Amino acid sequence: MACLILGVVVKEHPIYKKVEQWEIYDRLAGSGVYADADKEFLPAERYDWTLLTEIELFRSAVKGCEKVLDIGCGTGHPSLYIAKDVGSIIGIDKSERMIKIAKNRLRRNKAGNVAFEVGKAESLKFSDESFDAVILCGSLATFSHKKKCLGEIKRVLKKGGKVACIEENWLYQSTRKRRFEGEGVFVLTRKGLIRYRYVRRSLHPHKETDYRCIIDSASILGKKLLLNRCFFERKTLKAEMSIEEVEQHCDEIEYDEQENFDAETIACLFAENGFEDVIVSGYGMMYDLLNSTGLVDKMSSYMKELSRAEAIFSALLDPQKTEMLFLTCKSNSTTSP
Ligand SMILES: C[S@@+](CC[C@H](N)C(=O)[O-])C[C@H]1O[C@@H](n2cnc3c(N)ncnc32)[C@H](O)[C@@H]1O
Repeated sequence: MACLILGVVVKEHPIYKKVEQWEIYDRLAGSGVYADADKEFLPAERYDWTLLTEIELFRSAVKGCEKVLDIGCGTGHPSLYIAKDVGSIIGIDKSERMIKIAKNRLRRNKAGNVAFEVGKAESLKFSDESFDAVILCGSLATFSHKKKCLGEIKRVLKKGGKVACIEENWLYQSTRKRRFEGEGVFVLTRKGLIRYRYVRRSLHPHKETDYRCIIDSASILGKKLLLNRCFFERKTLKAEMSIEEVEQHCDEIEYDEQENFDAETIACLFAENGFEDVIVSGYGMMYDLLNSTGLVDKMSSYMKELSRAEAIFSALLDPQKTEMLFLTCKSNSTTSP
């Protein structure tokens, strides 16, 4: 989009190929954390630590529920891991490729009470009041029509049914540092996809937008990047190319943007859309703590227990100061007039 001010063309917004976030995820299915493989949970990896803590948080939130719906389930995390603690789980995702992988994993895992299917968060095909709990693991931020999705969640939940939701906290200092130092970071995935991520800030009105892009490796920009030796060594390219330079190739980039998510924003979103007992807690500190004291490797055999302990602590941590947010709430227990 461009506008003309006093004869000067000001680019308000990069003119990339805007796609929906699920389309970006569809391209990522099969690589990285979305690989068609069962997780081994490597002790020294921060991300795996986070995944284990997420499993414990969701497990404690929905334990004993009869029917659970996982919206934006991707390749089946965390549903496959908490299945034995609930009656049954249905996971839905708009990405067919994610669902295909989730189904492969289910086949290997043999959890008889789990099903995965393609479906849209904004128009759920389930009847009113048919679930005891809904889980959202990192997916809410990626939904294009959040209000509509929350309306659908309310509709399919039984009165007083639970919601458990995890999101990355934008206010967490190291997340910010990672994002802003990482402006213009390119990553080449094992499957040859080039990801590019950066944040734009506007002051009036205050807004931070996280751009998540995929660059076609056969495009001019893709070829230019692939000539760089770092890419072949599968290293991250930092600030090798300015955003301005990248924007000259905008028609070759598929992108979606996400707006600021912090404890207050996420709590308001649920409260304003008619959910009750909204509580936001935080987690994502244990790894940093052990890492800073050089204890990650020494404690690695206790990783599961430590993740479980962190999930229990989460209620006591100030969400403003944690890397990840964990929100729980309930749908109205009474029918609205
Ligand atoms: C960050 S991934 C999380 C996947 C999984 N829950 C996990 O934790 O690994 C977000 C997922 O939401 C899905 N998604 C995005 N928009 C959606 C929509 N409108 N309806 C259903 N799924 C959607 C994406 O395809 C993607 O798989």
